[in-house]
Amino acid sequence: MCAIVLVGGAVAGCIIHDTSATAGGPVGGNMIPASDLKPLRQASAAANRRIGTALMSARLSNGKVRALVVREFDSLTPENEMKWESIEPQPGRFNFDAGDRLVAFAGENGIRMRGHTLVWHSQLAFWVKGLKPDALRAAMTRHIQNVVGHWKGKIAQWDVVNEALTDGPTAELRPDSPFAALGPTFIDEAFRLAHAADPSAQLFYNDYEIEGLGSPKSEAAFALCKRLKESGVPINGIGFQMHVDPRNWPTADAIQKNFERYAALGLAIEITEMDVPVGQIQGDINEKLKRQREITHDIVAACVAVDKCSGITFWGVTDGDSWLNDAHWGALRGRGPHYPLLFNTDMQAKPIVAGVIDALEKK
Ligand code: XIL
Repeated sequence: MCAIVLVGGAVAGCIIHDTSATAGGPVGGNMIPASDLKPLRQASAAANRRIGTALMSARLSNGKVRALVVREFDSLTPENEMKWESIEPQPGRFNFDAGDRLVAFAGENGIRMRGHTLVWHSQLAFWVKGLKPDALRAAMTRHIQNVVGHWKGKIAQWDVVNEALTDGPTAELRPDSPFAALGPTFIDEAFRLAHAADPSAQLFYNDYEIEGLGSPKSEAAFALCKRLKESGVPINGIGFQMHVDPRNWPTADAIQKNFERYAALGLAIEITEMDVPVGQIQGDINEKLKRQREITHDIVAACVAVDKCSGITFWGVTDGDSWLNDAHWGALRGRGPHYPLLFNTDMQAKPIVAGVIDALEKK
C-alpha cells in the first residue's frame, strides 16, 4: 500500500490524494441528468429575476461554454475584463476589446450585462497608485466617463464602487485604498460621474461579508448606502457578493431581513458573485453537495421573497472556472477542493442547480 500526498502531478500505481486547491476533474457524487432540468433562465424569468454568471472572455472561444451560458443564464458579468488594470492599463489608453466581445455575445443572446467595476483598490492599474489628489480625481473622472460612456445603453448595471469598507471591528472606509486620498465623498463623486455618463444605467455599491445583520461591516455598508440615498446621490442598488463561507455565515432569515431594510431605502438588491465552497462541509461528497444545495436554495429563496431583489449571479459557470481554485483565494474558505459552482467541470448540472430552481419556483 502506498499513500502518497502530493500537490498536482501523478504517481503511477498509488492512490493519490491531491491536496491542491484546484478542482482537477469533475466532482464525484450524483449529478442531475440534463433531461430532468429546465434552463435556469426559464425558472428565473418566471420569478421575475435575472440569473447570471461571471465569465472570462477567453471562455467564449469554447462552443460548449457558449451554449451552456446561453441556455442557462440571462445576466453576464465580466470576471476581470472591465477592471481598471485591464481596461486602462496606461493613462488614457483604453482597451475595450475583451469587454466588447462579452457585450456583443450578451447582446446576441438576450443577456443583460452587469459592469464590474469602476472604482476599486484592487486590480487597479499601477500608475493610479502614486497620483496626487488632483491628478487622481482627474484620472477617476476620465476613467468613469470613458468606460461608462463606451457602453452607454448596453450595460444595464454598474458596480460603481467595490469593497470600500475594511474588514474587522471598525469597518471604516479602507485607508489602504488610493481613493481615500480624495476624502470620504469619493464614493458620491463616482456615482455622480457614472450617472452623468449613462443616466439609464442602474448604479450599485458592491461588497463582501455585508450579507447578514449586526456585524460592523454589514452595519457600515447599510449606513453608507443610507447616507448616499438620503443625500441624493444617484445610487440604485446594493450588490451582495455572497461568497459564502459555510463555516460561518448568516442565516437565510438574517439575509432576508437585511435585504428588506435596503429595499425600504428604495434600493434594488442583487446577489452579485455567489459561490458556495464545499471543502469545509462535513461528510462524503454527496452530503457536501446536498448541503451546498440547501444553503443555496435558502439564499435564493431570500431573494425571491423580497420584491426589490432583482438578480442572482454566480461567480463562474463550472467548478473549473472558480477563483477559489487559486490556492491563495481558496485558502480564504479553508481547505479545498471547493467545487463551489453550479456545473461540474464536464458541464453537468450539480444538485445545487435543482436548489436554485426549487427556490425560484416558490415565487
Ligand atoms: C476575482 C476574479 O475571479 C479572479 O480571477 C481575480 O484573480 C481576482 O478577482 N470580489 C470581486 C471580484 O469583486 O472582482 C473578484 O474576482 C472576487 C472577489
